[in-house]
Amino acid sequence: MPGSNAQGDLLSRLKQKNFTAAVLGLGYVGLPLAVEYAGAGVSVIGIDTDGTKIRMIRAGKSYIGDIPSETIREAVAAGRLRATSDFSALAEADTVNICVPTPLRKTKDPDLSYIVAAAEQVAKYVHKDMLIVLESTTYPGTTEEVLVPMFEKKGLKVGRDIFLAFSPERVDPGNAQFTTKNIPRVVGGVTPRCTKVATALYTGVLENVHPVSCASVAEMVKLLENTFRSVNIGLVNEIALMSDRMGIDVWEVIDAAKTKPFGFMPFYPGPGIGGHCIPLDPFYLSWKAKQYGFESRFIELAGVINGQMPHYVAGKVVDALNRFKKSVNGAKVLMLGVAYKKNISDVRESPALDILQLLVKKGARLSYCDPYVPVLDEHGIRMKAEKFSAATLRKADCVVLVTDHDRFDRRMIVRESKVVVDTRNALKGCNGKKVIKL
Ligand SMILES: NC(=O)c1ccc[n+]([C@@H]2O[C@H](COP(=O)([O-])OP(=O)(O)OC[C@H]3O[C@@H](n4cnc5c(N)ncnc54)[C@H](O)[C@@H]3O)[C@@H](O)[C@H]2O)c1
Repeated sequence: MPGSNAQGDLLSRLKQKNFTAAVLGLGYVGLPLAVEYAGAGVSVIGIDTDGTKIRMIRAGKSYIGDIPSETIREAVAAGRLRATSDFSALAEADTVNICVPTPLRKTKDPDLSYIVAAAEQVAKYVHKDMLIVLESTTYPGTTEEVLVPMFEKKGLKVGRDIFLAFSPERVDPGNAQFTTKNIPRVVGGVTPRCTKVATALYTGVLENVHPVSCASVAEMVKLLENTFRSVNIGLVNEIALMSDRMGIDVWEVIDAAKTKPFGFMPFYPGPGIGGHCIPLDPFYLSWKAKQYGFESRFIELAGVINGQMPHYVAGKVVDALNRFKKSVNGAKVLMLGVAYKKNISDVRESPALDILQLLVKKGARLSYCDPYVPVLDEHGIRMKAEKFSAATLRKADCVVLVTDHDRFDRRMIVRESKVVVDTRNALKGCNGKKVIKL
């Protein structure tokens, strides 16, 4: 039973996988984790405020591309995965993973409201010997400054009565090689005992756990990783813009540069960055750094350069139409792909949304194909996907390839389109006059 020592203390029960886990937030991060717990034989309660997700899980249906419905069905049928919107189920839990969104406010300041709302629920049901791990990406200091007081107010001392840690989720949706199970896990507790208990939690379920000295280090690890990506993408986008001006093919440059066996790692230019991580996370860090009087120039600069890419792509579409003496105003533009990256359905912060809006503002008549996104309903844009076909391609005055889903037939795109702006080098090798590369 939770809170009792009837079956030994929490640490030994974690080692024996004899505990009940709760996962708060069943999205791209939480659902795969809940499924790993169930797969390891742990009884898991999935809690989400979104009733549709709860109903789907109960019906054995997946809404995350990487998780087959079969896996959910089996876990639910075996009684290992229970989904609910009722937070009182937390009273039964020995451990809680908080996997809720961490967006930015319009001012680019961190919005911790989801973390706070989730933690308030946990605080209602917190009990002795409970382990709480925050997985949502956030600025260094969140766990200690925001969460510790919320639980200690309940009269429970962190590190003695309850355990609290931060462990950054690194899942890469659509990546079949690296999943929640085999991506190494970094864990940092508020106290050394918290680190030890949280390490034991993951060790039983995931393949590789890397403890660090404290929660702030673990929080900073995630922000270093995502800032590294944002800055390197910003750099390569700048090189792409420069190369375009100089008449040099940046894709050929990168292909050649990556033959260097050391000291170089290829990053690729594109229409802009998207998803719930790379466009947002670095600003959590720069916001926190400002409190220390520190200005993080790389982060701001990468944000500016990456943010310009949709404008650059819209300009390329205008240039492409210009070749045919056509004005963008009134032109039929077909966008291929609206998800922020290939082979997934996530459109959060997708650069496609910006490009679409920029072109509509110029008077273009937009339509799109995306096998993963049948309906686009974001930021006031509501559109239905067109069928990807030769006829659809032929109808457009200009095609702009924004997401290089494998399901797009490259040959058909080149054959049937009047002109294509290719933002991903997906049509590599088709260097006909029809293809305008980024
Ligand atoms: N998506 C990724 O690839 C990824 C990778 C690593 C880390 N992260 C981080 O993980 C966190 C979650 O991201 P995500 O992509 O899974 O988000 P998501 O939007 O897919 O899922 C979050 C879920 O939390 C639910 N929720 C919101 N408030 C809640 C509450 N108070 N109680 C219970 N459930 C609540 C939402 O309904 C939603 O289902 C973010 O901090 C993100 O930065 C995301």
